[in-house]
Amino acid sequence: MITQPAVSSFLVSQNVSRMKPSSTLAAMQAAEALRATGANVVDFGAGEPDFDTPENIKRAAEEAMRAGKTKYTATAGIRELQQALIDFYASLFSAHYERSEVMATSGGKQAIFNAIVSLINPGDEVLMAKPYWVRFPEIVAFAGGTPVYIETEENGFVLTAEMIERAITPRTKVAILNSPSNPSGRVIPPGEFQRIMELLADRAIYVVSDECYLRFVYPPAEVFSVASLPAELRSRLCVAGSFSKTYAMTGWRMGYALAPLEWTRAMLKVQSHSTSNPTSIAQWAATEALRGPQESVATMLAEYTGRREWLLKALREIPGITCNEPEGAFYAFPSVRACLNDRLKTSNEFALGLLEQEQTVVTDGAGFGAEGYLRISYATSMEQLQEGIKRIGRFVNSLHRG
Ligand SMILES: Cc1ncc(COP(=O)(O)O)c(C=O)c1O
Repeated sequence: MITQPAVSSFLVSQNVSRMKPSSTLAAMQAAEALRATGANVVDFGAGEPDFDTPENIKRAAEEAMRAGKTKYTATAGIRELQQALIDFYASLFSAHYERSEVMATSGGKQAIFNAIVSLINPGDEVLMAKPYWVRFPEIVAFAGGTPVYIETEENGFVLTAEMIERAITPRTKVAILNSPSNPSGRVIPPGEFQRIMELLADRAIYVVSDECYLRFVYPPAEVFSVASLPAELRSRLCVAGSFSKTYAMTGWRMGYALAPLEWTRAMLKVQSHSTSNPTSIAQWAATEALRGPQESVATMLAEYTGRREWLLKALREIPGITCNEPEGAFYAFPSVRACLNDRLKTSNEFALGLLEQEQTVVTDGAGFGAEGYLRISYATSMEQLQEGIKRIGRFVNSLHRG
């Protein structure tokens, strides 16, 4: 007899079994399915760089493997990587971390997961701005917490201290901040970031700052890490970082957490009892990523800069589409609300229509908590961008014609 796969009552009680498949994944699967039919697909769904991992990083992994660095490491990672992270934050942001406050993780996602799971009790509220990265509410639900969403549309999706203040309740335990943001690309200006941290420190609220897109910022916006703020504002702060985007290393699964000693100890327990250390070879590659030449980051940034400029202008020329300026990451997040009508009522229907009519994949903003918006990734070639924008323009025209 075949029995149903079991879902523990723990997962059911945490709403995990009811978790939605992520909208980013849905876009990826739609593109795959269409490609399999031989269609000429333009894919704006990608959440990862279209560049290869730089050669020096690959070489470091190869050398590590040949040198037999293929065994378990400490849960927090190899000393060399911890020290490279400490040196990186000291030289770029004048932030001083001890080794006991630094841990390597399997991707930035695990850093966020460790931080939330180690802190949250059932019923605790976790603040997050809309639009949010799709994983934030799911991780919070997994931990038994309650996501509390902060509307930011009135301010072009830039979170402010005042908005946070209005959302705080006696149950607020943590705020997750993400600047530059996925999906909006918006950046919290350093002065506002400081005000946010002052408010949260004052209310003894913990902070997880997701710095996944730290280095991909377009002037006049500035690269800013919350780690650069005075120590008294960082006593309840966990910085969650990633090698995935900065060094085009999504498949290597390397990230890190910087947090106070006690919190780090708790996170190490979560990691030790689940995944142990990140892959030893990938840790050596990540060490080289931080220590080695940084030209590849500048090259990618220059390429994204050109694409972003072109895309933003082209999007804004399509009647009915408006778009805030994405100051970081590699996404544009336009509104298509003015294009919706009785036939096409939601951004999801817009995305599906675009897929069907023009074989072009975008991600529905509703999955990020922003109905009426779409996420367009420009981690793709200029040719694909040009072709895709032509198709979106044609699709929108067909809607206006009724
Ligand atoms: C906002 C944000 N945070 C964290 C991550 C985690 O990335 P990784 O686990 O690959 O380091 C991603 C990846 O898409 C992201 O977009």
